[in-house]
Amino acid sequence: MQVVSSGLEGVCVGDSHISLVDGQAGRLILRGFHLHQLGEKSFEELARFLWEGGACDEESLVQPLGEARVRVAPLLREALPLAARLAPIEWLRLALDRLPDSQNPLDWVAALGVALALRRNPQAQPEAKADHVSDIARMAGLQFPDGLRQYWICVAEHGMNASTFTARVVASTRAGHRAALSAALGALQGPLHGGAPGPVLDMLDELQRAPDAAAWFQHKLASGERLMGFGHRVYRVRDPRAEVLRLACQKVSEQSSELAERLRFAERMEKLATSALAAHKPGRVLQTNVEYYTALLLEAIGFQREEFTAVFACGRVLGWLAHIFEQESEGRLIRPEVRYVGPMPDQG
Ligand code: COA
Repeated sequence: MQVVSSGLEGVCVGDSHISLVDGQAGRLILRGFHLHQLGEKSFEELARFLWEGGACDEESLVQPLGEARVRVAPLLREALPLAARLAPIEWLRLALDRLPDSQNPLDWVAALGVALALRRNPQAQPEAKADHVSDIARMAGLQFPDGLRQYWICVAEHGMNASTFTARVVASTRAGHRAALSAALGALQGPLHGGAPGPVLDMLDELQRAPDAAAWFQHKLASGERLMGFGHRVYRVRDPRAEVLRLACQKVSEQSSELAERLRFAERMEKLATSALAAHKPGRVLQTNVEYYTALLLEAIGFQREEFTAVFACGRVLGWLAHIFEQESEGRLIRPEVRYVGPMPDQG
């Protein structure tokens, strides 16, 4: 008798050295360190750390990644007329297709960041000597680059989530990095995975207009709707990234009274939402996830709601690549089975 786990919940697909998502204790450990211990790392340091482990501080990736941005920018600029007709995340997929096949992972990382920035500012030019986050923030006309750095560090890697698993499945067929990353972008796009933070802001906007927020939550849940930014497949406590990002919002709000006000409101709404969820589903812990404070932070930095998932992808690409490398070096073809419950042919 085949054992079926709906949504592959609880199924372990292999060993990994990259990260531990501890859903019971609410811990995220990346190559032996708690997420919060890595909060001061640069984007380039984290890339090296996720891909290779160890101290990884002897040779900086700042210049090679800067050179990759300069290399990919003209290829992406040529395709920019197509960007207007595409959702930002679709444009990122197209950006990957514009690159020649590359074994240099920095090209893929650079392409996603530069594509995001050029879509906002087609005239922008990358600077090879700048660090990745400052350069993308400058090119894209954003504020609070350190907020963006903290966000990308926070979301860079998170175990066997849907998009990472997708990347590994494609990498396991030896289809190459472009195909694996393209597939991961597709998986990330859905509202149950990386598409939630835009709807979080829509929800907060509606709540701001609602006369009674607690009643609003109850009504939504009673009509079968999901509250965006809450619940998780693995965490049975509050997602540890929610607190890291709440603190990042707090830091940025020292320079933005608008964010400070939004944050105070969101904190009040979080309490009401989690109480409403506890009353609605007493048997299942539904707590705040990463997307809730992501929404506030990305809005303050200057992104449009429709860009949020693409911004997520520009950080998560580090984790996708780490898993692609691991899959390529150790993994077998991923090919599970399905239990057939359809009709059988007539006897004879
Ligand atoms: N609001 C209301 N109910 C929720 C909920 C939410 N945010 N998340 C889960 N539930 C309910 C489901 O309706 C389901 O109830 P049922 O058993 O009566 O059908 C139950 O809790 C279990 O949900 P399930 O869909 O099996 O959990 P999952 O592990 O597949 O889902 C998520 C995880 C993240 C997809 C889910 O919590 C969700 O949809 N959250 C909102 C979207 C979001 O914030 N996504 C970003 C994730 S980081």
